[in-house]
Amino acid sequence: MSYQAHFKVWRGDAGGGALGDYEVTVNEGEVVLDVIHRLQATTAPDLAVRWNCKAGKCGSCSAEINGRPRLMCMTRMSVFDPAETVTVTPMRAFPVVRDLVTDVSYNYAKAREVAAFAPPPGLEPGEYRMRQQDVDRVQEFRKCIECFLCQDTCHVVRDHEENKGAFAGPRFLMRVAELDMHPLDAAAEAGVDRKAAARADHGLGYCNITKCCTEVCPEQIKITDNALIPLKERVADRAYDPLVWLGSRIRRRGAGHGA
Ligand code: SF4
Ligand code: SF4
Ligand code: FES
Repeated sequence: MSYQAHFKVWRGDAGGGALGDYEVTVNEGEVVLDVIHRLQATTAPDLAVRWNCKAGKCGSCSAEINGRPRLMCMTRMSVFDPAETVTVTPMRAFPVVRDLVTDVSYNYAKAREVAAFAPPPGLEPGEYRMRQQDVDRVQEFRKCIECFLCQDTCHVVRDHEENKGAFAGPRFLMRVAELDMHPLDAAAEAGVDRKAAARADHGLGYCNITKCCTEVCPEQIKITDNALIPLKERVADRAYDPLVWLGSRIRRRGAGHGA
């Protein structure tokens, strides 16, 4: 069954813009990105939108739909009442390039600030051994498609541009947590203190565990419960009990790298 929907789509660029009104056909089974493409094919051929896979895997089509950060390709039109106006705006936490396309380079800068995985010295790829529970724990974080919806949602930067310098955001604090939990990461031996960096360089203390990031993650990663809170606990253990840190290093060395 087809119907005519009323869409409001933000049009403009870095200099400013406004919501444009559109009447557009919606067909059964379509998602918001289908409707945006129909607008491009009909009344708004110069509408800028970023997308690639239309399968919820590339993380390109992030936007705000009726004020909620979502992937356009994974938002079914059937969740809206046909009489409801659907409003599509660019992610608010990042500068607009044009229309629905934002400049997400803040995220790439933050990614570069996280020290890379340091392989265990003396072992070659193929010789690494990990317990299954350690594999399972970090596997959840590896599902991230880098859509940056969590970064867009987090109130620490959403309305506070001034915090961007000091705060990596949930996606990259999760990356720090992943590496800090990784049993084979030898960053400490290479002079990188991930726990100290989490606080001093990546702004872990700004996060007050509101869980808004978790609520919008299209991969259903439990960012707050499984990454941010455990990272805070690991940092606090270190801060309040240096013997815990020393003990963990000795245990790790004593256990070698085997399973
Ligand atoms: S839990 Fe932390 S990182 Fe996530 S939205 Fe809240 S303050 Fe931001
Ligand atoms: S953690 Fe989830 S919301 Fe954040 S960038 Fe990755 S997939 Fe997107
Ligand atoms: S187009 Fe790839 S996630 Fe939507």
